[in-house]
Amino acid sequence: MGKKFVIAIDGPAGSGKSTVAKLIAERLGFLYVDTGAMYRALTLKAINEKIPFSDAEGLTAMARAAKIELSGKFSKYTIFLDGKNVSDAVRAEEVSKGTQFVASILPIREILWKMQRDFRDNHDIVMEGRDIGSKVFPDAQLKVFLDATAKERAKRRYLQLREMGIDGNIEDIERDILQRDEKDRQRSISPLVKLSDAVYIDTTGLTIPQVVEKILSLYSDRSR
Ligand code: DC
Repeated sequence: MGKKFVIAIDGPAGSGKSTVAKLIAERLGFLYVDTGAMYRALTLKAINEKIPFSDAEGLTAMARAAKIELSGKFSKYTIFLDGKNVSDAVRAEEVSKGTQFVASILPIREILWKMQRDFRDNHDIVMEGRDIGSKVFPDAQLKVFLDATAKERAKRRYLQLREMGIDGNIEDIERDILQRDEKDRQRSISPLVKLSDAVYIDTTGLTIPQVVEKILSLYSDRSR
């Protein structure tokens, strides 16, 4: 039997990766893996254990000892850190801001790359992140790069916050998004890149079902 099928979905924050990746995984019965949540979990652990973001060695030792588990399907996805459900805690603003430091330490990325690659031993997967097609699975059978204008991504985030009862300022949100993009694209280790063998989809002006159908049709072409 050949290798398990991997759909790698990369793209900037707010491009719709998570929503789309989950729906595709559900439609195909694949395992969904949110790699951003893994970087977030280690950042949360660093904050809890008061390890400074400048202490690369301390953070690496911490990452080696960490137990990260992902579980769930049909919109109920859960991430456990050292046996505790941290699905909500990893979304805190402090974690979102700190993750860039943890994610730029190479030995930490290597620990997570290994965990991410191991999922393929037993499962067909839909994996989303920034470096899935470039680093984790350069041999993925289908690579997708999801994008949208910063304005559109800011609007989505604004609406999402409003749904949670939080009033945001759309200009501030857009500025934050542009700053995060810059960091993701400029960092020396595993920057966010558009690969020549990835299918580029600009989701600005597309609905979620339209994006999902597009990727499912690419999948059916490739899996023949
Ligand atoms: O997708 P997200 O917003 O949950 O990602 C959180 C952070 O982790 C973000 O700063 C980018 C980083 N990340 C990364 O460096 N590599 C990945 N494969 C996924 C996320």
